Amino acid sequence: MKLTSEATAARADSPHKKFRRRDAFSDLSRFLTTEQHRIHLVGVAGSGMSGLAGLLIELGHAVSGSDKVTTTETERLQRLGLRFHEQHLAEHADTADLVVFSSAIKDDNPILLTARSCGKPLFRRAEAVAAIMQAKRGIVIAGMHGKTTTSAMTAHVLREGGLHPSHYVGAEIPILGTNAYWNERGEYFVAEGDESDGTLRCFHPEHALILNIEEEHLDFYPDLAAIEKVFAQLIDQTSGSVLYNVDDPNTARLCGKRKRAVSYGFSEQADYRGADVELRNFGSSFLVFRRGEKLGQATLNVPGEHNVHNALGVIALASELAIPFDKITASLRKFEHARRRFEIKYASDRFLLVDDYAHHPTEIRATLRAAKSIGRRRLVTMFQPHRFSRTRALCREFGSAFDDADRVMITDVYPASEPPIPGITGRTIVDEIVRHAHHGVTYQPHLQSVHRDVGNMLEAGDLVLSLGAGNIHEQLEILAADLVITEKLKAIVGEEGEVRLYEPLSNHTTLRVGGPAQFWVEPRTEQTFADLIRFCRDEHLPLFVIGRGSNLLVRDGGIRGVVVHPRGGDFEKIEVDGCEITGGAGVKLRQVAYAARAANLGGLEWMEGIPGTVGGGLRMNAGAMGAQTFENVTRVRYLDAEGNSHVKNRDELEVFYRRFPLLEKNFAVSATFCGQPAERAEIDTRLRESQEKRRTTQPVAKSAGCIFKNPATIPAGKLVDELGLKNSRVGNARVSRVHGNFIVNDGDATASEVLELIDDIKSVARQKRGIELETEVEIVGEPE
Ligand code: EPU
Repeated sequence: MKLTSEATAARADSPHKKFRRRDAFSDLSRFLTTEQHRIHLVGVAGSGMSGLAGLLIELGHAVSGSDKVTTTETERLQRLGLRFHEQHLAEHADTADLVVFSSAIKDDNPILLTARSCGKPLFRRAEAVAAIMQAKRGIVIAGMHGKTTTSAMTAHVLREGGLHPSHYVGAEIPILGTNAYWNERGEYFVAEGDESDGTLRCFHPEHALILNIEEEHLDFYPDLAAIEKVFAQLIDQTSGSVLYNVDDPNTARLCGKRKRAVSYGFSEQADYRGADVELRNFGSSFLVFRRGEKLGQATLNVPGEHNVHNALGVIALASELAIPFDKITASLRKFEHARRRFEIKYASDRFLLVDDYAHHPTEIRATLRAAKSIGRRRLVTMFQPHRFSRTRALCREFGSAFDDADRVMITDVYPASEPPIPGITGRTIVDEIVRHAHHGVTYQPHLQSVHRDVGNMLEAGDLVLSLGAGNIHEQLEILAADLVITEKLKAIVGEEGEVRLYEPLSNHTTLRVGGPAQFWVEPRTEQTFADLIRFCRDEHLPLFVIGRGSNLLVRDGGIRGVVVHPRGGDFEKIEVDGCEITGGAGVKLRQVAYAARAANLGGLEWMEGIPGTVGGGLRMNAGAMGAQTFENVTRVRYLDAEGNSHVKNRDELEVFYRRFPLLEKNFAVSATFCGQPAERAEIDTRLRESQEKRRTTQPVAKSAGCIFKNPATIPAGKLVDELGLKNSRVGNARVSRVHGNFIVNDGDATASEVLELIDDIKSVARQKRGIELETEVEIVGEPE
């Protein structure tokens, strides 16, 4: 058969063209449903296009497709016979009998250019779907919100009702198997109609189900009137019943006067009326009346009143197709959601994580209302605006859409295929929400950081919702995977210990820089610590121990795995026994110095000047005032990499200047220090000397103590001073004016600034003095 190409069957604005267009569609319908051809789909990875590819393969065509991305859908289709190309090449048009393109494809696409120049039949996606529908009794589900769920529900109810429908919906639908299916046996074809680009007017269905009509897609339509014109045309082209939502004023106005219009909703005048709605955790039940006569009760296992509404439309439609009410309700009870429609990603007693596709203010309001009805303690929402044009057009409405959320995090706009609009970002919506007097909103422009910020604010009892039509769900998925580990860690540390996700390590280092710890755990007992070590070994999770973070430089990407901060309980015990003082790993060295003073023990005064803990002091053999930790240590208690505890005496330990190898693979629990009896006055004098030294030679600003080890030939501070590098800076990281071996954070410095400054100092020392400076501060973590 010869097909009219796009050039002659183009936009159907004049009556003459309309007639030709109808003819072209009949031809196209025969071409697609009764013959076999080579068909190429441009932009095949899109959710609508992949469904069409599936249908065409089932119809027996040789289907090829091109897209710049691969998805699980394109992989699945390849297994069914799709020839997939990861590039759009002109030659794809040459080898095809017909080309179909997605509305996301730009006019200068090489395949479109070639197809146009050689007069190859070229159709839009909706035209092809509408033409396929023409071979069956078509049912179109249309409206701004709820199309995918409602068309999936319709196909499911018709299938369970024995009508063997074919279907075409815009997302993966687990309960239907695939997003599109061609069933030779059945008469009906259920399709989700896309109103976004005007192609709804391609459809000539037998029945139409109209869910709602309001301002949307204002990148395409000038105003609501233009949207209504397209819906009016669809209604005109519907040969059988129009089922419509009578509670939506625009829909009611447009459909109400039409012959064979059947209304549904909660209003008294609805032909199919829902009443006595009871919303439950993840579902609802409600009564259904038909023109005043009670049909019975229906139950849904998808949440929210908006879904009761959708179901009423499906009940009206299925009843008009003569499916008995009890069959309809039995299938509705079994209906499960489409992907990304209130999809539960994680559920426990403490947390519930749900993803939803809502991206229009009306959808967001409905989803938040459904989420709130679940009755968790707080509702925490992350939202990624979709398209700059929608963000600009509906920013006011977005401002009031989040009232039901306790906390809202907005990230930047997912552009879809749009170029940016100057001044329109996620902040546009944040400003509107703030203007609307919501106090729980924050802006995180970097999508990759959203899961961290939300994860760190989590409290037991939270329901976390990701909303948007772009890729925000990936952030929720990362959070869900990490929550699995978090909950296991919580079970290990019990009610006593703390577990937090993505804890910013800038809060736990004295230099105040560093990204987050993936898992932050504060055990209280040695036993818990041992259990954590074993857990990390079994789960292949890295484990890092942090004390006061006084000698630590954490990179800006934070630390992957479990960061253990021994705190409280066993770890903060301090005991004096004769001349011996035993302190847990979390005890501050300063506390050891003062416990010694209280017991009239001398020799430990120098510890007063060290900002770290016993664990940290041991790990690096910290020192001051010419003394170092291991000069006073008699015993160390530690856990090995298997979680077994050991005690070693000083003479069994190998120790170096600022290095203690045993703790490179093992974990300190406590240490016993030895003092000598001394006069209190003598001790006080030495404590004062230490304080005085610190006060007069070291900065008070935020720092990590000395950055470099002292080389054999000259103290590092003196060297930096002599090199004239004091007060030099990178960003907000600066060499102290007081002491050359200190880098201070002037406020909001980043780890990369500190690292750059360290490198600068090292290279000057190398060039000018031939000295290779070695860092004393421990540098850990991932670059950002
Ligand atoms: N100096 C200068 N210019 C400077 C800094 C120091 O000329 O800008 C001179 C001092 O005048 C002194 C010598 O360099 O003659 C050594 O300086 P300082 O006495 O301050 O001691 P340090 O070796 O720099 C060590 C520890 C410190 C500890 C102090 C006090 C190291 C790497 N540092 O510093 O420990 O507080 O002694 O006892 O061993 C730390 O390890 O983080 C730390 C701060």
